[in-house]
Amino acid sequence: MISKTFTVLLALLPLVQCAPPTPAASSALPTGTSTVALNTAAKAAGKLYMGTATDNGELTDTAYTTILDNNANFGQITPANAMKWENTEPEQGTWTWTNADQIANLAKTNGQLLRGHNCVWYNQLPSWVTSGSWTNATLTAVVQDHTTELVSRYKGQVYAWDVINEPFNDDGTYRSDVFYNTIGPAYIPIALRAARAADPNAKLYINEYNIEYTGSKATAMLNLVESLKAEGVPIDGVGLQSHFIVGEVPTSLQSIMEQFTALGVEVAITELDIRMTLPETAALLEQQKTDYDTVISACRAVSGCVGVTVWDFTDKYSWVPSTFSGQGAATPYDSNLVKKPAYDGIVAGWQ
Ligand SMILES: *[C@@H]1O[C@H](CO)[C@@H](O)[C@H](O)[C@H]1NC(C)=O
Repeated sequence: MISKTFTVLLALLPLVQCAPPTPAASSALPTGTSTVALNTAAKAAGKLYMGTATDNGELTDTAYTTILDNNANFGQITPANAMKWENTEPEQGTWTWTNADQIANLAKTNGQLLRGHNCVWYNQLPSWVTSGSWTNATLTAVVQDHTTELVSRYKGQVYAWDVINEPFNDDGTYRSDVFYNTIGPAYIPIALRAARAADPNAKLYINEYNIEYTGSKATAMLNLVESLKAEGVPIDGVGLQSHFIVGEVPTSLQSIMEQFTALGVEVAITELDIRMTLPETAALLEQQKTDYDTVISACRAVSGCVGVTVWDFTDKYSWVPSTFSGQGAATPYDSNLVKKPAYDGIVAGWQ
C-alpha cells in the first residue's frame, strides 16, 4: 500500500510543477472591467429589464448558471428553443413541456421576467405541421389550438409573448410558409386573438430581424402594426431581434424604434448579439464595445423601449459560430465566462 501511494505521488509531482500557462492569445486581449451588474444598470435607466436567452443544455454548467441566476445580472430570460413548436407539440395534440417548464420555473425561482418565444414561426416546425394537407379552416384551428395551449400553460407568468416570429421576407413581402400559403396574412390576427384570450395580461409581440434598418422590411412591419391597430387586433409590442455585425450597427435603430412607439406599441431589443469575423482582435473587441454602447443607448433614449435581451450572454453558448461560418465572439462574455469590453459598453449605454 505504502509503496503504491508513494508511486502515485511521484507520478503527480510533474503535473503539479507544470501548471499550464494562461494561453497567450486570450491574455493579450482586453477584458471588461465594470463591476456594475447589467440588469441593475438597465433598471437604473428606467427600463423593465436587461435579459438573456438561455437553453436547457446549458443549465448543468454551474459557472454559467451562477451568472444567469443572479437577477442583478439578468432580470429576464427567454427560452432559446424550449417553447418552439417542434419542442412543445411534436405530434398533433401531444404536448412535451419538460424543457419549457424548466426555464419557466427557473425564471420564477430567480425572480426574473419571462419572455415566451414563440407561438407561430415558419422554422423549427414539426413535420405534421409542414407536411399536413390543410385547408384554411383546419390550419386556422391548429394555429388557434397551439397558441391557446402554449400561452395558457404559462398564463400569469409571461411578461411578453413573441406570438408571431419573422413574418416577412427582407423585401417586405410576406414570407411564404405553410401559414401564409394556406391562411393568408389572416394567420397573424388569428394567432394574436388566440393569445389574448389565453392570457389577457401578457404583452403580445411580433418579433422580426432586419427591421432595424430603414427600408422595405421595416416599412412592412410599420404598416402591419398600423393596420392591426386600426382593425382592433391585439398587438402590444414589436421585437427588434438585432443580430448585428461589429462596425455595422444601423444608425437608424433609434428612429425606427420611435416610429413603432408612435403607433402606440412598445418595443424591445429581443435577440441582441454583435458578431465579428474571427479571430478576435483588440481592435474588434473595442469596436464591439462601442457598438453595444450604441445599441443600448438607443433603447435608453426611447421611452417605449422596455428592455434589451442578449441572445445568450457568453460566446461559449452563442448560436453565431454554427450559423455564420467564420464568425463569432458576438456576446458580452467570452467562452471562459470572462467579461469582454462589450460588457463595459452595455453598462456605459445604460448610464
Ligand atoms: C382564411 O379564412 C379567414 C377567415 O378565418 C379569412 O380571413 C382569410 O382571408 C382566408 N384565407 C384565404 C387564403 O382564403
